[in-house]
Amino acid sequence: MTPKRVAILISGGGSNMLALLDSMTGDHPARPCLVLSNDPAAGGLARAAARGVPTAVVDHRPFKGDRAAFEAELMTPLLAARTEIVCLAGFMRVLTAGFVAQWQGRMLNIHPSLLPKYRGLDTHARALAAGEAEHGCTVHEVTAALDDGPILGQARVRIRPGDTPQTLAARVLEQEHRLYPAVLRRFAAGDRTPLRLDPGT
Ligand code: GAR
Repeated sequence: MTPKRVAILISGGGSNMLALLDSMTGDHPARPCLVLSNDPAAGGLARAAARGVPTAVVDHRPFKGDRAAFEAELMTPLLAARTEIVCLAGFMRVLTAGFVAQWQGRMLNIHPSLLPKYRGLDTHARALAAGEAEHGCTVHEVTAALDDGPILGQARVRIRPGDTPQTLAARVLEQEHRLYPAVLRRFAAGDRTPLRLDPGT
């Protein structure tokens, strides 16, 4: 079967993007076709280019809150790259229902919490403040509601005494790098049954 073409959307350093890129080799049912950022300064752009992956930037700032106009511009490189699956990987722009609808069933996101807990930002600090015993990350299909949609996989992390948002974020990020490639591999092969990874330390 022809591998599925995957575009990865980033806003920052792109460590999840790199984990995805590095996984898409050999018998993997997908290949990267594009790394796209809303921020020209995103560190991940150079890292993708160094791996020979095409990159593009659509800066959101000139659109001044006109999300639909920004997203219309995002569609141009996505379509030019003949994208079949979109992976949001630290892409920090909220998407409109109209954009999400165009990628329905074909767009994934990774979120640093055990959804449905802690949608939105500052997930690690909020989990600590709530006295949680465990935390983690979720890969889900993107729907119009923020950090919602069918769960495709979760990885858990035990919270340790003395954890700070930073120490916890670092351990969750390690799990993100395991979880997202594992879920994408299954998703690209047509398997949407939720994956549960063993607790990280
Ligand atoms: C990751 O922790 C990801 O889960 C989070 O941003 C970080 C990006 O890191 N995403 C969100 O918070 C989305 N709401 P990375 O650029 O190194 O992959």
